[in-house]
Amino acid sequence: TYVVTESCIRCKYMDCVEVCPVDCFYAGENMLVIHPDECIDCGVCEPECPAQAIVPDSDGQAAAWLELNRTYAQQWPNLARKEPPPADADAWNGVAGKKAMFSP
Ligand code: SF4
Ligand code: F3S
Repeated sequence: TYVVTESCIRCKYMDCVEVCPVDCFYAGENMLVIHPDECIDCGVCEPECPAQAIVPDSDGQAAAWLELNRTYAQQWPNLARKEPPPADADAWNGVAGKKAMFSP
């Protein structure tokens, strides 16, 4: 599976959902997650994210975020179409320590 990580928080660009062939993204208030059991590992979303938030589960960053993706994919609504990103998304791109701003 691919995993959405910290970099998505407050960026939430949603370019990823436009390309996913199985629509396995789920949307929270300020980030998206991937349902690990629905992702078919195609990898097309990874280069689409302007915040480089999406990584394969083989990536070192993935482990810390995999269970969060699994948990919230079962609670948040599915998102298959891009919506307008937050107005200040670019200001948060690349900022460290965004995990503290995660909004369940
Ligand atoms: Fe969707 Fe493919 Fe990305 Fe998995 S790797 S979330 S199937 S686009
Ligand atoms: Fe998040 Fe990147 Fe998608 S910022 S919403 S994973 S395009």
